[in-house]
Amino acid sequence: MTTIDFTKYPKPRSRRHVSPNQYLPKDRIRIDLEYYPPLIPSIAWNEHFLNAQAPQYLDIGCGMGRFLLETALAEPKKNILGLEVREYAANWIRSVIQGERPHGVLGNAETLWYSVANGLPFITDASVEKIFYFFPDPWFKKRHHYRRAFTPAFLDECARVLKPEGTFYLMTDVPDVDAYQRETLRQHDVFDFEECPDDASWGLIQRTDQEDFSLRKNIPYVRVKCWKK
Ligand SMILES: C[S@@+](CC[C@H](N)C(=O)[O-])C[C@H]1O[C@@H](n2cnc3c(N)ncnc32)[C@H](O)[C@@H]1O
Repeated sequence: MTTIDFTKYPKPRSRRHVSPNQYLPKDRIRIDLEYYPPLIPSIAWNEHFLNAQAPQYLDIGCGMGRFLLETALAEPKKNILGLEVREYAANWIRSVIQGERPHGVLGNAETLWYSVANGLPFITDASVEKIFYFFPDPWFKKRHHYRRAFTPAFLDECARVLKPEGTFYLMTDVPDVDAYQRETLRQHDVFDFEECPDDASWGLIQRTDQEDFSLRKNIPYVRVKCWKK
């Protein structure tokens, strides 16, 4: 498989979080914001993927994109779209994609600076095979929970865009987030779900940056697969 020489793409200095407003849907913000990820009511896929087709995979909160880029290389026939609220991260991934396309790879990868708090209006119903939602920011304090993207409305959007046989993948190393997500899934009854205790039941080979960090530091994490009811 092709590999990318990442030394060609120096990573920007990371800032931990963006303005709290960016985790809210735009229509719930009362002040005028100069800096907010653009809303995307609709999209022309020919401007994003070489084959001009819609994505089969979504990586929501893709961070610095290791999983996205490696999955795109491993599965060149699948388009994968990353959505990321941190602009510098989305820009960096795009710089890798633009830099590699002349070498004949990553025509199937794209990342957008976007807050998923605004739903997925630019994704057609029942069009996506896999949604990845990996290591979301935990927002431990109760008064910050509103910043978590994993809400009943978010589950409805994921269920809407997934194909009937599609899979929604979750990973987290934070027990409180795992419990919160399972409780939200139970109460908002649109997905069945199952914990994957081993690699075989999980079925994904590529790793995220955060997963790699957990593995290196021996931090346990939980993997859950969800299917539409
Ligand atoms: C802890 S990082 C994990 C990144 C990656 N998934 C991984 O596993 O390495 C969580 C990411 O989700 C992004 N994020 C948080 N809220 C978001 C939102 N509302 N819309 C899009 N991305 C969001 C954060 O900016 C951050 O990059």
